[in-house]
Amino acid sequence: MARTTVVTGSASGIGRAIADLLRERGERVIGVDLKGAEVTADLSTAEGCAAMVEAVTMLAPDGVDAVIANAGVLQPDALCIAVNYHGAIRTLEGLRPLLARSPAPRAVVTASLAVAIGAPTGLAEAIDRGEDVEDRLDGTGYAVSKRAIGHWVRRVAPIWARAGILLNAVCPGLVETPMQAASMENPQVPAMIATIPMGRIARPRELAELFAFLASEANSYMSGQLVFADGGLEAATRPELC
Ligand SMILES: NC(=O)c1ccc[n+]([C@@H]2O[C@H](COP(=O)([O-])OP(=O)(O)OC[C@H]3O[C@@H](n4cnc5c(N)ncnc54)[C@H](O)[C@@H]3O)[C@@H](O)[C@H]2O)c1
Repeated sequence: MARTTVVTGSASGIGRAIADLLRERGERVIGVDLKGAEVTADLSTAEGCAAMVEAVTMLAPDGVDAVIANAGVLQPDALCIAVNYHGAIRTLEGLRPLLARSPAPRAVVTASLAVAIGAPTGLAEAIDRGEDVEDRLDGTGYAVSKRAIGHWVRRVAPIWARAGILLNAVCPGLVETPMQAASMENPQVPAMIATIPMGRIARPRELAELFAFLASEANSYMSGQLVFADGGLEAATRPELC
């Protein structure tokens, strides 16, 4: 039977590519975004997330098979923490009862290469312990939010796996999406791209293939992993096993 997958941030970039790919494969997608999706919701607030859960429940009362918590922002600091960390967790925890009704439930979060590179030590860990660190972010909110959601995935995935729900994260490097459009104007970009072993940035569709696998029944034994899809940059930057 066709699977039903909830994709947040489905109106643009990576989320849109995931939704397109799953639909091409004949699956049902319930897209969530600020506009231009089946469910319109602002995932930066607890109320917005609760409204999203209610709307998805109305559309799929018998349950959903996968949730891809992908919506994200690049700035400012406080909004990064609100959407990329709290919004992703509220999405996954809020939809977990619907997921639990699937015979093969899967959950995927969009983290970032920033979990490994760019976040100052300690802040992400502090956020994931429930501490308020907003006055210490100083422009690092994006990297900290992504590292914090990476911590959450590592911490929570074993608990979810015991309940039969496989939870993983994808950590993209640079992907050609509207989020990156402004950064691409930066004159340092060619030098940055030269540090990527594959020598280029990713197309959203390349990422979508990986998300589709992690959200599928074919992913039958993978849980708690932060999968880097970054043209080899993470391995080149920190070759030690960690
Ligand atoms: N593009 C990259 O290079 C890159 C790299 C690493 C990680 N990521 C992550 O990938 C994910 C997708 O990013 P993208 O590059 O496709 O960007 P994008 O800007 O094209 O898409 C992000 C989507 O999230 C939605 N969104 C933002 N705030 C929201 C909110 N409060 N409520 C509901 N929806 C909201 C936006 O409306 C947009 O449709 C993000 O989590 C981003 O951090 C992107």
